[in-house]
Amino acid sequence: MQTPKLSQKVMKLKPSATIAVSDLAKKLKEQGEPVISLALGEPDFLTPQFIQDAAIDAIRSGEHHYTPVGGTTTLKEAICHKFKRDNRLSYTTDQVMAGTGCKQVIFNALTAILDPGDEVVVHAPYWTSYPAMVEFCEAVPRIVECTDDAEYLMTPSQLESAINDKTKAVMINYPSNPTGACYSKAQLIAILDVLEKHPNIWVLSDEIYEHIVFDDFEFHSIAALNDRVAPRVVTFNGVSKSHAMTGWRLGYCGADSQLIKAMSKIQSQSTSNPCAVTQAAAAKALVEDHGDIKIFRDTFKSRIDFVISLLSSTELSIVKPQGAFYVFINISHYTNDAVSFCKQLLEKEKLALVPGEAFGAKGHVRLSCAASNDELKEACERLILFLKSYS
Ligand SMILES: Cc1ncc(COP(=O)(O)O)c(C=O)c1O
Repeated sequence: MQTPKLSQKVMKLKPSATIAVSDLAKKLKEQGEPVISLALGEPDFLTPQFIQDAAIDAIRSGEHHYTPVGGTTTLKEAICHKFKRDNRLSYTTDQVMAGTGCKQVIFNALTAILDPGDEVVVHAPYWTSYPAMVEFCEAVPRIVECTDDAEYLMTPSQLESAINDKTKAVMINYPSNPTGACYSKAQLIAILDVLEKHPNIWVLSDEIYEHIVFDDFEFHSIAALNDRVAPRVVTFNGVSKSHAMTGWRLGYCGADSQLIKAMSKIQSQSTSNPCAVTQAAAAKALVEDHGDIKIFRDTFKSRIDFVISLLSSTELSIVKPQGAFYVFINISHYTNDAVSFCKQLLEKEKLALVPGEAFGAKGHVRLSCAASNDELKEACERLILFLKSYS
């Protein structure tokens, strides 16, 4: 039966490519296929016990009701505490808010600042949702391509040339999903020098992988490095990656209080508060010392090194990531069509990777190291076998 039409806006919206690949892999697995999926970006650890306990306490003590839209006072104080402790950022409780995942908080911010036709500078390879969200706001992503010889980092001059009269925001993400690239303090300061000259631009900094950095890399929040730019920086974060809490759905940000008010207004008309029990658990997570993060970090680092060494006999080329838990592989020696590459890899070798096109980088695939060493070894063997079909 014919149903009424959907909106133009939703018809133009692209589904999340990473979720699509991983759903397909799950479906094949359910059908009994021996699929290894290295497609999705979620830690394969359990949420630390003290956080689970905090959630159970919250359930038992009756935290079952609506809370203020942007989070309870306890959670907001915990967020402020975390920003101060980890990032040297002095946000007050009216300058922070929580939502149902960092994804929703980014969506709130873009919705609050963008008018149709505005532009947002996004460095590629990018997290797959940024351009889709910008387009959903009827704005235009201005993509800055960052190549592997620049270690996938945007230079200040690339940023300067991408900015024009329509630029409303710049989206920065480090450690990057998908490349693991990180900006050093000096590189961030150089980027801030450019942004300082453009006072009408919001600086959106997605720092969700901040705790997963390797080899003594020192992570710096961009808002802590330039007092003149800081008032227009939005610092995004969440507990999904740092505390293995992807399913709990809790993200947050710090920003100017007027922007926070606007974002809360949007959230009040869509989902209201994030889950009350999750908020109680996240408040504990952000305040308590979290020894497990070191285990997460060391495990991801050793898996990444393992994968890179397993693939060293091939013509695949890899820039060693400085953070996050992905290996972003340049397959251009074999093909630039990563979509077909991934499709055939899944069909022939039952290995699910995400094509670089999803991140604005053809000729690449993303392999998530959120899997055991045995699975990673088997996956690399399948990938190497598959590459033989190209020779
Ligand atoms: C760069 C980046 N930002 C934000 C998110 C969203 O995280 P969540 O909504 O789970 O908090 C993700 C998740 O994959 C991500 O990789």
